[in-house]
Amino acid sequence: MFELKNKKIVFFGAVGYLATPIVWKMAELGADLMLVDINVERASKVAKELSLKYPEQCFDFSYLNTEDYSSITACFEKIKKTFGKIDIMVSGISAANNLLVEEFTPELMNKTFAAHLTGSFLLARSSAELMPDGGSIVIFSSMYGQVAPDPSAYHAPMKPNPIDYGMAKAGLNQMIRYLAVYWGPKNIRVNGVSPGPFPNPANYPDDNDFIERLDKKVPIGRVGKQHEMAGAVIYLASDESSFTNGHIINVDGGWTAW
Ligand SMILES: NC(=O)c1ccc[n+]([C@@H]2O[C@H](COP(=O)([O-])OP(=O)(O)OC[C@H]3O[C@@H](n4cnc5c(N)ncnc54)[C@H](O)[C@@H]3O)[C@@H](O)[C@H]2O)c1
Repeated sequence: MFELKNKKIVFFGAVGYLATPIVWKMAELGADLMLVDINVERASKVAKELSLKYPEQCFDFSYLNTEDYSSITACFEKIKKTFGKIDIMVSGISAANNLLVEEFTPELMNKTFAAHLTGSFLLARSSAELMPDGGSIVIFSSMYGQVAPDPSAYHAPMKPNPIDYGMAKAGLNQMIRYLAVYWGPKNIRVNGVSPGPFPNPANYPDDNDFIERLDKKVPIGRVGKQHEMAGAVIYLASDESSFTNGHIINVDGGWTAW
């Protein structure tokens, strides 16, 4: 049903835990992809692997650190040179300090907003400039942009999911709605996905208790599996969602429903 043949996709945060299977699925559906990440080594490796598997399609990579706005300019120069235009932009970047409320300084709070919120805004605006025929923008938000972390899930010495993360994600939710309205007349659709708990096993190798506490908070009784974000992102990226604009899809097993 979904078709991404010849679509020029720029994926920011392309080699993260949730992004990686989505990137592979997009390639399988025929897309050309620019993999953008602060982890440029991994982005280069995945671009090479994709080129080997799908030699007819174009795969490239670029460095980006949203904390350094000059890298955004350089990255878009490369995108323009390689693709000329963008059909679909996805951003799965993330930034936060792992701090308690009492530990934040104004500087540390602003650092998160500069990288996560202002950075995402700049990525969206520069992408829209390369969408003269319209396009689709999909931003990763989070359940923690809608609800606060339940402290009972986070046992010391683990800290609860930090406040700056949720504040930035809540800001992104409003950015999605604002830009959906602002760019609607240009047929640039702006939507979001709001993942629930998708703990990366690499980050919690021995913490089965934590995963069990998360499982209990999900109506379907388990955390998300790595591949389970792809459907919502690809739906919003593709023309199948041509009348969906300003919407944020919860992919959280029902975490935010009760
Ligand atoms: N995994 C979850 O449980 C979960 C839950 C809710 C929301 N999310 C959101 O989903 C998205 C993907 O999450 P994930 O778990 O795959 O995270 P991840 O850390 O595995 O992936 C994030 C990617 O973005 C890159 N990145 C980080 N900071 C960057 C920067 N400043 N500039 C450029 N690239 C940068 C990283 O190198 C990485 O490849 C994020 O936006 C995250 O906030 C994840």
